[in-house]
Amino acid sequence: MESYDDWHAARAALDWHIDLGATEAICDAPINRYDLADTSAKIAPKSAAAQPAGPVMAAEPDAVGIAKSLAQQAQTLDDLRAALAQFEHCPLKPGARSLVFADGNPQSRVMIIGEAPGRDEDMQGRPFVGRAGQMLDKMFAAIGLSRSADVPQNGIYITNVVPWRPPQNRDPSAVEIDMMMPFVQRHIALVRPAVIIAMGNVSAQALLGQRGITKLRGTWMQAQGCDVLPMLHPAYLLRNPIAKRDAWADLLALKQKLGM
Ligand code: URA
Repeated sequence: MESYDDWHAARAALDWHIDLGATEAICDAPINRYDLADTSAKIAPKSAAAQPAGPVMAAEPDAVGIAKSLAQQAQTLDDLRAALAQFEHCPLKPGARSLVFADGNPQSRVMIIGEAPGRDEDMQGRPFVGRAGQMLDKMFAAIGLSRSADVPQNGIYITNVVPWRPPQNRDPSAVEIDMMMPFVQRHIALVRPAVIIAMGNVSAQALLGQRGITKLRGTWMQAQGCDVLPMLHPAYLLRNPIAKRDAWADLLALKQKLGM
């Protein structure tokens, strides 16, 4: 078998796969199959039925505990970004290009918490910059709010429950969400928004412990000491344009809440 022990050969092989049309890594994390062969050779199977189906994984450290401790130490948003950058326990991190932290003015009254970065966000390192992001910008512009507003009064601050892109844009798993929540909670505590928008099902589940966004949307709730408005995700609105009237009602409720 060909050996890719030099960086340039590996790079050329990767480019060749991309030329052939490969767009995704198919696992959550890269697997070095040369190592796997070694590992399986060293482990004596107990019985054929007891053999693990996948790679043998090391016991996970207390990822949630580590996340809590790192997040609590962050005194500023820059600290929090640095804490995330040094957190190595989320399985999404190795498969992502970028840490997608936040965008907009952190002094804004409105903090939007989406689900997870997609392909465009992963490439650019900013949340909500793809098609759904353009839709989100239009939605909030319709009530006079923007991520690039000059004054915080008219601003929005945008982040996600998880800062790394899940493979194939799948929803983040419950384990991934649990381990990232201490960072989300600290993020909210540092920004201290007047209002949080829980954008979509994953965000509503993470912040409010409830799913079923089509029922939850438009109902003001409380989480992390803030008023929270669950809303339909802009990606959902792109697929279901009829639901835009519900989103519009929610935007008007937000506008009223802000006294605009
Ligand atoms: N969808 C999200 O929930 N977040 C993003 O950043 C992009 C798309």
